[in-house]
Amino acid sequence: MAINKVLAIETSCDDTSVAVVDKEGWVHSVVAASQDLEHELYGGIVPEIAARNHSLALIPLIEEALSKAQCTWKDIDGIAVTNRPGLVGALIVGLVTAKALSQAKGIPFLGVNHLEGHLLAPFLKDSQYAPPEDFGYPYVGLAISGGHTSLYQIKGLGDYKVLGTTKDDAAGECFDKFAKMAGLGFPGGVRVDKLAKTGDPTKFDFPRSMLNDSSFDMSFSGLKSSGQRMIETLGPEKVQENLPDLCASFQEAIVDVLLAKLARAAKVYRSKRVILTGGVSANSRLRARAEEWAAKKGLTLVVPPIRYCTDNAAMIGYAGILRMNAGEFSEMELGPSPQALASDFK
Ligand code: KG4
Ligand code: ZN
Repeated sequence: MAINKVLAIETSCDDTSVAVVDKEGWVHSVVAASQDLEHELYGGIVPEIAARNHSLALIPLIEEALSKAQCTWKDIDGIAVTNRPGLVGALIVGLVTAKALSQAKGIPFLGVNHLEGHLLAPFLKDSQYAPPEDFGYPYVGLAISGGHTSLYQIKGLGDYKVLGTTKDDAAGECFDKFAKMAGLGFPGGVRVDKLAKTGDPTKFDFPRSMLNDSSFDMSFSGLKSSGQRMIETLGPEKVQENLPDLCASFQEAIVDVLLAKLARAAKVYRSKRVILTGGVSANSRLRARAEEWAAKKGLTLVVPPIRYCTDNAAMIGYAGILRMNAGEFSEMELGPSPQALASDFK
């Protein structure tokens, strides 16, 4: 039986999200509850709090997603749910809910790899966004968020090769830690981005690790430590005075590394299409410089709108529905996994 429409659930980290998506990638609804305020008090994501908030938010969001999509359960042919990678306690909430609904409604469910969702997000469509007409496989993609920073070659559904990955911190984590040290709160990536708009990116010197090495791997822990040293050396008053320049300079170091690796991958793999995905691809400087580079090289660059770049259930629904229509379904024994499976990537 063809799976025409799925309900999708994403609870891998600190955003609870539910969507209704069809097999062409149309997003009929996507709703979310952010937990930023709850975690800001602690300066980072607290797994227990994330899980508890998912369990409070999820059922009302499912009802809202169905209602916004003008659907009832009769219109839903399957359930897609993130079961890896992520915070185990957080993943369990989505997974047990998907299993219970699958049993109660008599429809199949499928556990989806969150990273596959990010990589397929450019294919989503709604009344304001659609990928360019010439977009399709194969493409090179950079998935950048608070938990992961990796470069992939995407050849088709389920055919993802990891070209390189961060050896230590994720780029988003680096943005967030720097923001926290500079007194900007959590999550700080977006605040660094905003302040950087009026700053001078050449004012402070920050390291660009592994920039010229021949691999596609990256490293951000040296930059993070260098940020910490800079903030300690300057002291609170000077940090405050120089905040826009500090943010612009720190951001530039991350953007330089990400773009250098992406550019090299596009060249080595002779890819005409490139994507940026994950929460950090919301960064305005990264977007602007990537667009400038792609235009110069005659490449098609797709950066999905922010609602599909940050963690969202629509991307999980699309990855799930494609796989279900290829005959893949999960069993009730499926558990959550903190890591992606070795078989998820080549
Ligand atoms: O994909 P995402 O929503 O969740 C994870 O899977 O981690 O990414 C969240 C990350 C956070 O580290 C956040 O600070 C970062 O994306 N981020 C940004 C911006 N907006 C979100 N980093 C830099 N500039 C931004 N505008
Ligand atoms: Zn993510």
